[in-house]
Amino acid sequence: MAIQWFPGHMNVTKKAIIERIKEIDVVIELLDARLPGSSANPMLADLTGSRPKLKVLNKQDVADPIRTEAWLAWYNAQPNTKAIALDASETAPSQRLIKACRELVPNRGGMAKPLRVLICGIPNVGKSTLMNTLVGKKAAKTGDEAGITKIEQRINLASDFYLFDTPGMLWPKITIEKGGYNLAASGAVGRNAYDEEEVALELIQSLKGPYPELLAARYKLDNVATIPDRHEEVLLEEIGRKRGAVMGGGRVNLQKASDIILTDFRNAVMGRITLETPEAFEQWAAGAQAVEEERQRQKLLRNKKKRKTPAHDEDDSAEA
Ligand code: G4P
Repeated sequence: MAIQWFPGHMNVTKKAIIERIKEIDVVIELLDARLPGSSANPMLADLTGSRPKLKVLNKQDVADPIRTEAWLAWYNAQPNTKAIALDASETAPSQRLIKACRELVPNRGGMAKPLRVLICGIPNVGKSTLMNTLVGKKAAKTGDEAGITKIEQRINLASDFYLFDTPGMLWPKITIEKGGYNLAASGAVGRNAYDEEEVALELIQSLKGPYPELLAARYKLDNVATIPDRHEEVLLEEIGRKRGAVMGGGRVNLQKASDIILTDFRNAVMGRITLETPEAFEQWAAGAQAVEEERQRQKLLRNKKKRKTPAHDEDDSAEA
């Protein structure tokens, strides 16, 4: 089952971005460093066009540092794009954000041409936490300006650097199935939109290859060397059993076991983990695109057929 989730306020957000984007020099997209591909919003690329982009891999403290480096290199290789990694322990995030944005648009700056930056991110990537740090420590909050209050907030990170916060949230249609599972595992998706056991099995599938030691250590699993080859259903049962999620008759409570591993991942208690590599994500994206193209092709064929049918009927009646 592919995960789909449609939170509210999407149109307000979309409209606000379309209106604001004309006066924006750089778009900052906050990503979850544990899923730097899946937490990006493809719809944002459509809305912001060719604007220079700063990708911020947030929560780097809980992500795998080697994979974070790979993702930074991947994003940095894209046109008009820079990427940095960040986390909430950073005491002066504004300095790094300002520096990266200025590098992207060196011709703007000074009071006459302030750098205007829009910050976006899907839920749970840590945007409120970052904005609170920025507002509290560095910036003058100017969200009370007429017409701005309700829909967006502007903070001045420097006298010639304005940061606009996107109101509400922008949530993409999830076309990459594995990306949907990773988003659900991270806690970004509303609880009612997915089946916990299914997401837990996908999570185990992502973890057992690159992080068998972390699984073994957290759940006291035996035989770490064979973990990558054990089926995820077997591993979920083992995890449940080790953690006492057992029902009458000795059967493992898979719902409870799923909840345990998902909560552990969200609370980052297993260790530093990143669920995806750029190479894997590119493959998923290519697969999703092929499926989407086939879907469009089938739709076109159906429409063609539909258009033909009435004409055919007319011919029939003319003949009759
Ligand atoms: P959002 O506005 O993008 O939806 O995200 P928000 O700031 O509310 O952060 C979502 C969760 O991520 C919060 O945890 C927050 O503490 C945590 N978080 C934010 N930045 C970082 C970071 O750099 N590193 C880590 N490890 N966690 C971060 P929560 O459990 O939902 O709430 P709480 O623990 O703060 O009460």
